[in-house]
Amino acid sequence: MLAFVKTPESLKLNVKKYANAARLARNKGGQPYPNLVRVWYYAPSLDMVGASRFIGYEDMTFARYNTNNEVDSQGHSLHGGRTESHLKRMDWFRQLAPSEPEYQKATSAILRIADSIRPGAKIYLLRREHDSPAPTLNLSRSRKLFSQAQALIPGGVNSPVRSFRAVGGQPPFIQKGKGSRLWDVDGNQYIDYVGSWGPLILGHAAPEIVAAVQQAAALGTSFGAPTEGEGELARLIHEAVPSMEMVRFVNSGTEATMSALRLARAYTGRSKVVKFAGCYHGHADGLLVQAGSGSLTHGMPSSAGVPAAYAQETLVAQYNDVPSVERLFDEYAGQIACVIVEPVAGNMGVVPPAQGFLAALKRITSGNNALLIFDEVITGFRVSYGGAQALYGVTPDITCLGKVIGGGLPVGAYGGRREIMEVVAPLGPMYQAGTLSGNPLAVAAGIAALKALQQPGTYQRLERTGALLAAGLAEAAREAKVPATVNRVGSLLTAFFCAGPVASYADVQRADTRAYGRYFHAMLERGIYLAPSQFEAAFVSLAHTEEDIRQTLTAAREALKGDA
Ligand SMILES: Cc1ncc(COP(=O)(O)O)c(C=O)c1O
Repeated sequence: MLAFVKTPESLKLNVKKYANAARLARNKGGQPYPNLVRVWYYAPSLDMVGASRFIGYEDMTFARYNTNNEVDSQGHSLHGGRTESHLKRMDWFRQLAPSEPEYQKATSAILRIADSIRPGAKIYLLRREHDSPAPTLNLSRSRKLFSQAQALIPGGVNSPVRSFRAVGGQPPFIQKGKGSRLWDVDGNQYIDYVGSWGPLILGHAAPEIVAAVQQAAALGTSFGAPTEGEGELARLIHEAVPSMEMVRFVNSGTEATMSALRLARAYTGRSKVVKFAGCYHGHADGLLVQAGSGSLTHGMPSSAGVPAAYAQETLVAQYNDVPSVERLFDEYAGQIACVIVEPVAGNMGVVPPAQGFLAALKRITSGNNALLIFDEVITGFRVSYGGAQALYGVTPDITCLGKVIGGGLPVGAYGGRREIMEVVAPLGPMYQAGTLSGNPLAVAAGIAALKALQQPGTYQRLERTGALLAAGLAEAAREAKVPATVNRVGSLLTAFFCAGPVASYADVQRADTRAYGRYFHAMLERGIYLAPSQFEAAFVSLAHTEEDIRQTLTAAREALKGDA
């Protein structure tokens, strides 16, 4: 006989505590809860149910409640032993918070198979304590679309972070955005701090961008021939970032950095490049590289498909660690073409440059006849109108831009000193081209964005809103006694779930990603759309109001309290 026993108060404990108690009891030959025959866990955001007998992790068995509302055993024996994937799932589901309807559906389904496997088993359902009251976000249409997308698109997404793998659960499918807000296909509304990962500094569907794109589209979407707008956008960029004496437009940040490295190599006649662990510059082969063992070794591919020979041309230094750069220049004297850096690291979460770090890079590169490349794909027109180079007063040889300069359309650009840029075809021998480069829609949107950013008070407003959010988050964490460190530069910020300071890649790795996962889901349930990974920036836009920040902080206080 199937007994569906709702979590009794006495068993309302968190899964980890239970499993530890269970293991301890088993080791002593006892049972922690004598009445308990079997415990089923439910990890709703993953559509996952797990079952355990009363003996803890080792005998963890799983069945999966999939998005088609079917239950299957996923090929795992329901009495199977410990496997890596079991443990991984344990890890995941500890992070997750259920939504009530899904919980109900999944639990009844799992109870049915439980009964077929073990007729008569008495079943207790455990829920993490802070999951109550169960959140109510309805993502049913998103789930359906995600399941369909997964059949045709790897992971259902066109850029991996969108899949929510780092935080578990399933992504809402977005229908529209306006100002600081997003709406998903199930009608849920969110205050958005992703901002399409940085471009939307004016907010969603900013009227000036929409009008510019509409006007441009009416005249034709692409010509593969020069247009007036390209010159105007280049002029606006040069005026804001004078070190970009000449500019070449491309279609993405990846293209910009890839081209900049080729240019540095062409200009210097050297092949090695230095990047920093934790900095991301797009997915070009030579940049998908991680540190090898020992600080002086060549880089190793961080992605399958990157030839080791390419990766060996990339040397990896430590961000905010000048000696790590000096050592590479000593070891590879005369071989290094350039150093590429995010002047404010954004892709390991926000880590500002330490005092003097950027200036030291300038000194080292120019002292070694190498070039300094600032990847300002995130920071350009974001941390100030002139980017990080204006903010910190350090001038690179080459700058890469993207994101903001396209107003939300696909774009990238690289530029630098005239004598360097004259190496680019057709003036020089370095080849680089693009069918849609300088596309009239992206250029029109970019011009509109930069003109809007020229309005007085723009960056003061971004600073004020960013500061309000950062201070409020730090305060909420303090109140909830959750260790957290908020790093911020202007409208870019990250709340790391660890004690500070967070000033290096090693520091970043101390962050509690599981705590972030719980916080992320608790915020999403409360209508706050954060980056689905601890190691990303939150982007505040000009469309975010003080009321938005107040709502966000109320949600954060609740979310963090649940996690204390
Ligand atoms: C600093 C930096 N550089 C380069 C890139 C790559 O840009 P894209 O995604 O447009 O190729 C990114 C993307 O997030 C970035 O953050």
